[in-house]
Amino acid sequence: MPSTPQSKIQNRKSKMDAESAIGVFDSGIGGLTVLHEIIEALPRENTVYLGDTARSPYGTKSVETVMRFSFENSEFLVEKGVKLVVVACNTSTAIALGRLQEKLSVPVIGVIEPGVRRAIKSTKNKKVGVIGTEATIQSGAYTRALKAANPKIEVYSRACPLFVPLVEEGWTDNAVVEMTVKAYLGSLKQSGIDTLVLGCTHYPLLKKAIRKFMGSAVRLVDSAEETALEVAAALKKRAGGRQRGKGVHSFFVTDAPERFVKVGQRFLGEKVESAVRIER
Ligand code: DGL
Repeated sequence: MPSTPQSKIQNRKSKMDAESAIGVFDSGIGGLTVLHEIIEALPRENTVYLGDTARSPYGTKSVETVMRFSFENSEFLVEKGVKLVVVACNTSTAIALGRLQEKLSVPVIGVIEPGVRRAIKSTKNKKVGVIGTEATIQSGAYTRALKAANPKIEVYSRACPLFVPLVEEGWTDNAVVEMTVKAYLGSLKQSGIDTLVLGCTHYPLLKKAIRKFMGSAVRLVDSAEETALEVAAALKKRAGGRQRGKGVHSFFVTDAPERFVKVGQRFLGEKVESAVRIER
């Protein structure tokens, strides 16, 4: 492990070459939900995805650890020559986005601001719920961003750590899921929120169960789509969009690729043909 990955990144020269790929990283497979939206919005773009599957989950880890992993992932992508980095992980965004934006030589986009923008547009009664991993909720990043956008917003947050393993098991719609949703979201339902931010890459796969419990009056905000729009806007602003052809997508993981390839389809919405393992 490099002891100061930040300094290596900081010294690199930046230049947005339209032909370069968009880099995307996540703690594992969840970020594929964000990649899916990027591919939909920007079909010409090449992408490089890194899933840190050997060290996932990030949601239960300390701030220092998530910071270090996030820099190492970014460094890998920058070395691959990407023109922009998307932090497709709520936990990494909550903890490391500011530092990454300071230190990296390419633009860095996270998933929290886009989700917050959508939540602000959606809420009428100014009561917004946020669910995420323990690290994301503890960081207070969503609450700060929502309050910065509108100080009158009341934020109700709740960590839902069991949602990640349930989704990875492929359990998105059964009695165990229903019970877990009820246990985690009962108090949020009582609080009278009209908008609920799904502040974790895995939670969009639980939309059906969450909607069933919360009722149709509560709007569910999934930041993936809005993040893709932000990526498109960032490329446009810097004239960095690829003008021709169909994008090619490469996948890298830090553990054996078999499980990523097998489970990935559920998150990406299409088959992950292959992934290359990198050493850490
Ligand atoms: N990708 C993480 C997130 O969005 C969820 C999985 C994990 O805890 O690593 O927060």
